[in-house]
Amino acid sequence: MSIEIDIVNGDASWKDAKPLFEAVWPPHVVATLPWAGIAFAHAELRVLVRDELDDVICHVGIHRRDVTWNGRKLRAGGIGGVLTREDQRGRGYATIALNAAIRTLKDEASTDFALLFCEPKNVPFYAARGWTPFEGEIFAEQPSGRIRFTAIAPYVYDLRRKLRQGTIDLCGLPW
Ligand SMILES: CC(C)(COP(=O)(O)OP(=O)(O)OC[C@H]1O[C@@H](n2cnc3c(N)ncnc32)[C@H](O)[C@@H]1OP(=O)(O)O)[C@@H](O)C(=O)NCCC(=O)NCCS
Repeated sequence: MSIEIDIVNGDASWKDAKPLFEAVWPPHVVATLPWAGIAFAHAELRVLVRDELDDVICHVGIHRRDVTWNGRKLRAGGIGGVLTREDQRGRGYATIALNAAIRTLKDEASTDFALLFCEPKNVPFYAARGWTPFEGEIFAEQPSGRIRFTAIAPYVYDLRRKLRQGTIDLCGLPW
């Protein structure tokens, strides 16, 4: 099967990505996940993998955010919404999309580190792709105010900086 990979504006492409989100994360599934009830930021850019029918079969969201680490301003590249349609898993699509997202962040050169949040079941997937646990604390905004974000665990991918500990304030909604 031939596939197509695009990196597109997040808002404009939401209508294309939405059916995949609805298939993988319908409300009754989200309700069972550790991040149920959390408000997340919308992706600024999206990596979309499409099949021959032009359907989106894999998605990775990219967020670019000025955050603070121990009070110092840094540029984070956020990765979120990594998902592959169930019938297309195990073919390397998420790996390809994740690599494209990292390449985009590297090309911008101003990104200090990449950061994602994941459930324990996906840790081996990210660990095998160069992601390392961030052992410090994460703070984020929610509609109710600023919270310590502990629902899902933070993993970093080293770019210009190698963060392992300390306090990261996302200065906005998590992703
Ligand atoms: C996690 C998820 C995105 C992985 O997507 P995927 O497209 O199946 O991922 P890949 O195919 O790149 O890699 C998955 C596995 O398939 C293997 N694989 C890669 N290419 C392959 C191929 N051509 N043939 C068979 N297996 C292959 C990889 O080695 C990998 O195994 P590993 O974890 O032991 O290293 C997908 O399972 C998913 O959508 N899950 C539900 C949503 C979710 O939890 N998302 C993560 C949020 S943090």
